[in-house]
Amino acid sequence: MSNTYQYINVSVEDGIGLVELNRPKVLNAINRGMVSEILSAFETFDRNQEVKVILLSGKGRAFAAGADIAEMANDNAIDFELMNQFADWDRIAAVKKPIIGAVQGFALGGGFELALCCDMLFAADDAEFGFPEVSLAVMPGAGGTQRLTKLIGKTRAMEWLMTGDRMSAAEAQRLGIINRVVARELLFEETKKFAGRLAKQPPLSIRLIKESVLKAVDYSLYEGMQYERKNFSLLFASEDQKEGMKAFIEKRKPQYKGK
Ligand code: CAA
Repeated sequence: MSNTYQYINVSVEDGIGLVELNRPKVLNAINRGMVSEILSAFETFDRNQEVKVILLSGKGRAFAAGADIAEMANDNAIDFELMNQFADWDRIAAVKKPIIGAVQGFALGGGFELALCCDMLFAADDAEFGFPEVSLAVMPGAGGTQRLTKLIGKTRAMEWLMTGDRMSAAEAQRLGIINRVVARELLFEETKKFAGRLAKQPPLSIRLIKESVLKAVDYSLYEGMQYERKNFSLLFASEDQKEGMKAFIEKRKPQYKGK
């Protein structure tokens, strides 16, 4: 895919769709154009059979220091209603392939919300996460109160959201927000290595595991179990399931096609 975007860089390497936020001078502040470009890149990768996994990272010293304050400072409630800008975030959440985030420096406000849209997160040891919206007399609007609460629980989410304090990578890992903390200079390489591992897994399993795990966040256990069962059965309609089990029996490495 050629890079025709203004606010992000995109490329494909070894089955990994790379998306890099590219406004380093303003710490990758997320303006509306950037959100629609991220969505466009994600949806293009989602339909591209060459891409198995998406890796989201930020250029420069921060992952993203939040929504672009300069852009929204003079907005009013009716502008938001008419733009329906958060609809793009709903579509980001509907991407079927796994999204792995690599976070260094700040992941604040909308930047933290974007990180929380990722399925797994690797963070540099200098990463700082937080929702400073309260200090601007607003609050998160792209899922922050919802996703953080579902991840770490009500009482802890209340504290981070109401104080606006920033948490370290170690704290974020302790709270289960991120998967790994790695040295800053190794962040991209380590995240890419992990994404590369997932890229070699049978794609349909990965796809339906993601879908099922996300349902667990919203559904009751009973409904989630029914959903899981349908996806489990669906995999038995794939060529890869036949190949995976046949290869096991024949004691050889399976060759998956994603079909
Ligand atoms: N929007 C617009 N510009 C931003 C920005 C943002 N969110 N964050 C940083 N920048 C810009 C700064 O204005 C500055 O630009 P200039 O060089 O032109 O002055 C540049 O990025 C570098 O930033 P700093 O000089 O401030 O860097 P620092 O290291 O001293 O501080 C920081 C870093 C603590 C992250 C500080 O920049 C900051 O507090 N940023 C704002 C964080 C914030 O409030 N984010 C939430 C936004 S609201 C939101 O996200 C709503 C939502 O839910 C959708």
